Order: sequence, then C-alpha cells, then structure tokens
Amino acid sequence: MRALFGIAALALALAACAGTPAPEAVKTADRTYDPKLLPPGPLGHSIREGHDILVETRAKMPSFVRADMSCAACHLDAGLKSKGGNLVGVYGRFPQWNQRSRRIIALQDRITECFLYSMNGRAPGYASREMIALVSYMAWISRGIPMGEKQREGDRFIVPLPSAGPDSRRGAAIYAQKCATCHRADGAGVSGTFPPLWGNASFNGGAGMAHLDRMTGFVYFNMPQNAPRTLSVEEAYDVAAFVLSHPRPHFDGNAVVAEPAKPARYY
Ligand code: HEC
Ligand code: HEC
Repeated sequence: MRALFGIAALALALAACAGTPAPEAVKTADRTYDPKLLPPGPLGHSIREGHDILVETRAKMPSFVRADMSCAACHLDAGLKSKGGNLVGVYGRFPQWNQRSRRIIALQDRITECFLYSMNGRAPGYASREMIALVSYMAWISRGIPMGEKQREGDRFIVPLPSAGPDSRRGAAIYAQKCATCHRADGAGVSGTFPPLWGNASFNGGAGMAHLDRMTGFVYFNMPQNAPRTLSVEEAYDVAAFVLSHPRPHFDGNAVVAEPAKPARYY
C-alpha cells in the first residue's frame, strides 16, 4: 500500500514537472528581488547597490537628481512590475536605435536619458561605480532572457486612447477625489513618500511621462496606488491631461553634460 502510494506521488510529481512551461516562465516580467540570492562578492554588491539606487535615488545620489523622486516612482517595484515601467530584459535590448537623438545608444545612454529628463538632473559617468551598479542590477533582473528579445507588449503600460480628446476639467474633479490625498492638491506630493506630479520638484518637460499617452497608460494600470485598475481609460486620460496642464521644469537641450574625469589608472 505504502509503495503504491509512493509510486502515485512520484507520478504526480513527474506530471507537475512536465506541465511546467520553462521557456515561457523565463520570459515572465514579474520577478522578485531577493538580496539573499545574489552572487557572492563584489558583483553581488554592485547588483545590490544598483537596486538600492533605483529605489532611493535621491538619498544615494543627492547631487545628481533635482526631481524629488526615485527611479522607482515610475519603475515600480524596482522595475520588476509588469506594466509598471518594467525593466526585466532591458539589458538584452541595447544597443538600439534612438529616434530622439538619432543615433545608436547603449544602455548607459538610456539610463542617462532618465537622469536628465525624468529625474531633471545629471547622470553619473558611464564608467562610474553608480552607473555600473545600475547596469549590473538591470543585467541581473534580465538573466535568462535572450539577447535581442523585444519587450512583450503586454509588459508595457500602453492603452489605446479614446478617440474624443481629453477633458481636463473632468480630470480636475477626478484628481481632487482620487489623487490629491497622496499627491496633494498642489501636485507637490509628500517628500520621500508620494512623488510630485508637477511643479519644480517634478520630472521636466522632456520626460517620457510628460507625454499624454504615456501618462494615461501609466495611470490606467498603476494608479491610484491604493486601488489600481479602478479608473476607466477615459478617466485616466482626463486626469493625465489635468496633471500635464500644470507647469514643470523646462528641459534645456543646450546645457553641456560632462563626464567626470578620472585618472587613467581607474580604467
Ligand atoms: C517620471 C518617471 C520616470 C522616472 C522617475 C524614471 N524613468 Fe526611466 N522611463 C520612464 C518612461 C516613461 C520610460 C519609457 C517606458 C516605455 O516606453 O515603455 C522609461 C524608460 C527607461 C529605460 C528603458 C526601458 C526599456 O525597456 O527600453 C531605462 C533603462 C530607464 N528608464 C531607467 C531609469 C533609471 C535608472 C531611472 C532613475 C535614475 C529612471 N529610469 C527614472 C519614466 C521614468
Ligand atoms: C495612496 C496614494 C496614492 C494615490 C491615491 C495616487 N498615487 Fe500616484 N503614486 C503614489 C506613489 C507612492 C507613487 C510612486 C510609485 C509607487 O511607489 O507605487 C506614485 C506615482 C505616480 C506617478 C509616477 C511618478 C510621478 O511622480 O510622476 C504618477 C504619474 C501618478 N502617481 C499619478 C497619479 C494619479 C493621476 C492619481 C489619481 C488617479 C494617483 N497617482 C493616485 C501614490 C498615490
């Protein structure tokens, strides 16, 4: 009886294995980050530092960011959340053509872009410890995903926009009811807890989030943070239009961006 039971259990376990869709599972964007599973030694340290910079950007790199927010304000769960600014697989998607700058860019250039626009700041040098830590973390969360694999559409925060234009007056009412408790009536948020949506401490006008379509998709899938997916696409569109009708820092494309110099022996 006992032996029979054992055989049945083994058969069940084998069936479970056969049913595991291994290659698909590897592509899944929703991943967890467990510092205990990092490789030992300096590489593990670098990955961990990259994670911590993403989550606490201002605290870790105060002289590099002017916006009062962390990368994780838009890359939720440190870039692990599907439809929340997901960064899983990003390491294998660069170098790539960049339409804005009309050149091939590396992952460091893309990270620099978010420092300059989204964080309204300046980027660490490409060979700096901080930049390499960010790249290490993005490589770690991208492991197992083939090089050159495109991001799955389902992992991006894209929604088809309503054909009628947005109504930002309706958006104002939604904002007062569903956003202002956290982001405040003046859009300035609460430093360190709720990121600003407009004003001096927000992302600048060159940022991806300053585009109505991007913000609509982000808000539709991720906000209100305590009740995501409760707004219709129309409501997300209206409230995003209201948010973007306010002033924010101007992006100065002519400002000179310099890499900090290092002694040759650093390389
Ligand atoms: C205000 C919101 C915001 C903040 C803050 C922000 N980003 Fe982004 N980031 C975006 C948006 C929007 C995109 C484009 C996403 C898309 O097109 O699906 C993006 C894209 C990226 C990409 C490319 C992703 C890809 O798959 O091609 C990287 C890498 C990235 N960000 C890194 C960072 C880092 C590092 C920081 C902090 C220094 C940061 N971001 C801060 C909004 C933000
Ligand atoms: C319960 C608090 C809460 C509410 C309510 C809320 N948010 Fe957020 N919001 C957050 C937090 C916290 C973040 C940072 C990401 C995270 O940790 O989830 C965020 C991030 C954002 C971002 C990206 C970062 C930035 O600062 O630009 C936008 C855009 C945004 N919220 C818009 C909205 C809109 C629009 C509403 C109302 C429909 C809303 N939020 C309601 C807490 C909230």
